[in-house]
Amino acid sequence: MLIRHAPDLTDNDVTDHGLYLRRRQFLGAAAGLGLAGLAGGAQAALSFSKGFSTTEPPTPKKDVTGYNNFYEFGTDKADPAEHAGGLKTRPWTVRVDGECEKPMTLAIDDLIKANKLEERIYRMRCVEGWSMVIPWVGFPLKDLIAAVQPTAKAKYVAFETLKRPSEMPGQRWDVLQWPYREGLRIDEAVHPLTILAVGLYGDVLPNQNGAPLRLVVPWKYGFKGAKSIVRISLVEKQPATAWNLSAPREYGFYSNVNPAVDHPRWSQATERRIGEFRRRETLPFNGYGQYVADLYRGMDLRTNF
Ligand code: MTE
Repeated sequence: MLIRHAPDLTDNDVTDHGLYLRRRQFLGAAAGLGLAGLAGGAQAALSFSKGFSTTEPPTPKKDVTGYNNFYEFGTDKADPAEHAGGLKTRPWTVRVDGECEKPMTLAIDDLIKANKLEERIYRMRCVEGWSMVIPWVGFPLKDLIAAVQPTAKAKYVAFETLKRPSEMPGQRWDVLQWPYREGLRIDEAVHPLTILAVGLYGDVLPNQNGAPLRLVVPWKYGFKGAKSIVRISLVEKQPATAWNLSAPREYGFYSNVNPAVDHPRWSQATERRIGEFRRRETLPFNGYGQYVADLYRGMDLRTNF
């Protein structure tokens, strides 16, 4: 069992749920050896951001980890779970560079150790019209961005993911331009809702969900959440993104969840929550409008889809 009660922690450490995770379980040894064998080590509190987490029931883990989009491993929903096992996620480095005073290359385990991990239970709405509720474990992207000290020229953040056709069989086909790329405006990137995830359901992130590091931006369509990130660059100009390069009329740079703006080939007004029978209404900004609508004040979200 990975989430434990820790009766010996002080009031300051006690979270609403009284649940704690071992930070160690997200580090390389754990990822490589399997988690059950771990014992001892310092316990780190896993804080719960209740304000941001939804109280909706999480989608069953078997669906979160078995129904995926990760074209590096194939285009069927079952392909990532079937083929991502061969991806080696250690050693793994993340380069953070561009318009900043302190560019750095971080080993993934040092990045995890340097950040306080939190659980965030977020809705995820895929542009294809289905949705899930996922209990992520991660940390705010803004903390990493602050560490490299952006310059005044840092207007956008570009994300580059792994290109390794030997372990990513889908990259042998040109379904997308590899590596998969994504981007955010800097104010979106430093928004407190935006996290880098290293786990889900209190456990290490499975390869098919984007191990060892993936972006989660809950008010945008799921494809903005780049998986298996190797580079994060602060840039002056709006960066190119994989889906926009592939079909610019269908996938815009912003891709905020918007029931009023249909995809050219289907309506975005409703969605199928995985596990539910009836479709439900899609909410503007995926229900996070109270936190993020101000970012887009004065913008035409039909043009900037
Ligand atoms: N990241 C990479 N590198 N490659 C991908 O094909 N698919 C995106 C996004 N991130 C994708 C990716 C899409 S379309 C979605 S909906 C989400 O990942 C799916 O995340 P999940 O499989 O963890 O639910």
